Amino acid sequence: MNNRTFAIIKPDAVRNNYDGKIIDQILRSGFKVISAKKIRMTKQQAEGFYAIHKGKPFYQELTEFMSSGPSWVLALEKENAVVEWRKTIGATNPAEADDGTIRKLYAISLGENAVHGSDSDENAQIEIAFFFSEAELIASQ
Ligand code: CMP
Repeated sequence: MNNRTFAIIKPDAVRNNYDGKIIDQILRSGFKVISAKKIRMTKQQAEGFYAIHKGKPFYQELTEFMSSGPSWVLALEKENAVVEWRKTIGATNPAEADDGTIRKLYAISLGENAVHGSDSDENAQIEIAFFFSEAELIASQ
């Protein structure tokens, strides 16, 4: 399925009250929110979600940060959603992000970079399923 992607509005953005502005930008950019919820990720959930980065030097810091406060998880729909969402959020490092992108506007640093986006259709499906049940995804359509 190439019309869905998975997004997180990370704890730094929620802490700084940017979540409303980011959701507005999501909608203005033409994405439909299939499902969304505000959660407090556990350390164990963060470790599972970012298991692909296990062993990297930033893994511990990343999983501690992601479980440090509330965040939003969202399943988004748009044609070519993965690519379109990555364009909307900008480069992982906000210092390299283009003007007008979410990370350029709201991110603090490489570690605290405001939002997450899936990097492939396959991972989008896996990541959506990590946080949402089928019923949650169907019920909102
Ligand atoms: P995200 O798109 O959520 O995927 C992995 C996250 O690890 C990334 O955003 C960054 O916030 C974080 N991170 C921290 N340090 C690094 C690094 N050196 N390289 C890549 N990602 C990093």
